[in-house]
Formats: sequence, structure tokens, C-alpha cells
Amino acid sequence: MYTAKDYSKLSVIEGFSETLLKNHFTLYQGYVTNTNKLITALEEILKDGKTGTPEYAELKRRLGWEFNGMRLHEYYFENLGGNTALDHYGILGKQISCDFGSYDSWAKDFKSAGMMRGIGWVILYEDITNGKLFNFWINEHDIGHPAGCNPVLVMDVFEHAFMLDYGLKRADYIEAFFKNIEWQVAESRLKLVREEV
Ligand SMILES: [Fe+2]
Repeated sequence: MYTAKDYSKLSVIEGFSETLLKNHFTLYQGYVTNTNKLITALEEILKDGKTGTPEYAELKRRLGWEFNGMRLHEYYFENLGGNTALDHYGILGKQISCDFGSYDSWAKDFKSAGMMRGIGWVILYEDITNGKLFNFWINEHDIGHPAGCNPVLVMDVFEHAFMLDYGLKRADYIEAFFKNIEWQVAESRLKLVREEV
């Protein structure tokens, strides 16, 4: 079973009100609770031999949504709370420049994905077969993840992530997110051992 992690240390970051973050933590805790409930319910159904039912199918579909809702919030909160810029000469900075031409070009793409209409996530993914980095749009929580890739930087663009503080000004929220990225955490997530990029 999963336990909700404590992210209360983030309550003082600039550009995010305490109320917004507290609400966000509560939503996250709901995903953890529901993930546990679904796992238990699906185990029961399997044990009872009732897997050929609509209830099983719906709960099985739901698990991807709740599980990713839980896990993506953990990545998101953990890559927040930083106050130093990306080290452009570090492994992540160099890989970004290699794959996007420059940091600015990468940031433009990441922010533009965040401005797309709809609710979901923007994720900088590392393809661990070759080290290439991509910015992906994830619809809601579960649609659009590249198989087998590694999430390096995760940004929530559900309305609950910004509307209380920024209303419809999603671009301002994205700027606030960028000011608070914990780049060391993002860089530490890289999985592929890199030769000189
Ligand atoms: Fe969220």
C-alpha cells in the first residue's frame, strides 16, 4: 500500500500561495487513497473470480488514472522548491542543448506545451534507449506517456495547480513554476550514463 508523502516544506515558495499548495497536497492525498482502494478492490475481484464483470473493467481502467495522479504529483512536488538556475554545463544542461539546440529553445517548447488547451501535465522525458530528451503533453494523468521513458521534469497544468493564484493567467503560473524548479532533482533523475555530450 502507498503512503502520502509530506511536502509541507514547499508551503513558503514564492509565487505559490499557501492555500493553493495545501489544496494541492489534499488532492494528492486523495490520489494515494484511491490508488490503495483500487488495488484492494481489484485483488478482491480477482480472488472472487469476478474478472469478467463491468466493475472489474472500470476499476482496472481507473487504476492508471489514480496511480499516475499519485506518482506525477510526487515528481512535481519533488522538482519544486529550488532557487538556482539550471547548470548549463552539467549533464542535463548539455543534453538539453544537444537535443533542442539551446536551453531557450527547450524552454519555449516546454512552456508552449504547458499553454495548450486542456488539463494534464508537461513532462521532460528521457528515452533511456538513447538518452534523447523530449517534452511530452500528458492528457489528464494517463494518456500520452512514452513507453519505457524516464520522467525528468514534471509540470502540473491542471487548473487546480494555478487558478486560485493566477486565474486564467496560465503563462504567469508557468513562469512561477520555472522560477522554482529544483534542477538538481531533475538532473539526478537522468538514468542513462552519458559520455561527454
Ligand atoms: Fe495537481
